[in-house]
Amino acid sequence: MIPPLLYSSANQQGLAEEFAGNLGTTARTNHELVSQPHLYLSEAGLSFFHPEARSSNKFQIDFNSGSTGWRVKRANHEKLIKKALGKADLPLNILDCTAGMLQDSLLFLSLGHRVTALEQSKILFHLLQDGINRSKVQSIFQKFDLIHTNACSYASQAKNFDVVYFDPMYSSTKKNALSSGQLEYISKILETESIENNPLKDFEVLQLIPAKKMVVKRSIKAKPFSSQINYQVLGKTTRFDVYI
Ligand SMILES: C[S@@+](CC[C@H](N)C(=O)[O-])C[C@H]1O[C@@H](n2cnc3c(N)ncnc32)[C@H](O)[C@@H]1O
Repeated sequence: MIPPLLYSSANQQGLAEEFAGNLGTTARTNHELVSQPHLYLSEAGLSFFHPEARSSNKFQIDFNSGSTGWRVKRANHEKLIKKALGKADLPLNILDCTAGMLQDSLLFLSLGHRVTALEQSKILFHLLQDGINRSKVQSIFQKFDLIHTNACSYASQAKNFDVVYFDPMYSSTKKNALSSGQLEYISKILETESIENNPLKDFEVLQLIPAKKMVVKRSIKAKPFSSQINYQVLGKTTRFDVYI
């Protein structure tokens, strides 16, 4: 279910109603609902609040301040991803099946590749769109498409990709899972929309997409989805399983 969208002032009403219409919910000024899960539209953009999230801040995608982390760059992560992609003389056409906060997509884009990113959550898709619209650096999104869909539904129409990239949510039962507040928020968004995933089943569908390689991001201790791995790129806490 998509929770109501609250807006901060009458100035926001038109935009709030448009967002709410696209999301399939209602726009309200009734701030009695602030202690319940809700979307919030203000001058600062669209955000999501869940009372059970550890962070008391609303969750927002902000590519300008670096609060979504991609600018606070993870040099080591970048090195590992580059290694997993392999040497490419020409820009690659990458299908990112799990958009999330677009951190990995942005890394691919900053390396000069073209990216199509898929996100199953309607709420997160709209938060991302809003973040992209407010981004001061539009040039990075020139070779980028974001689609609201489940990757498995998209699989049969996925053509001409060099790389299929898959970074499913970690299981929330694991000790270390959702240690990042942002991932916890994504998990709350999925819970709110009653979206449940089976990453192994998704992998089995996605690996049928014709591409030169599939790169799967896993927690370092997680079991590989298949024994057919061609190589692995190991980091401290994560690894990339590469299937050719
Ligand atoms: C771990 S996060 C990905 C983080 C992302 N790689 C990043 O760098 O920000 C997983 C995301 O993929 C989405 N997702 C998981 N399975 C999906 C599927 N089958 N189709 C589309 N989106 C999916 C989830 O909703 C969630 O937003």
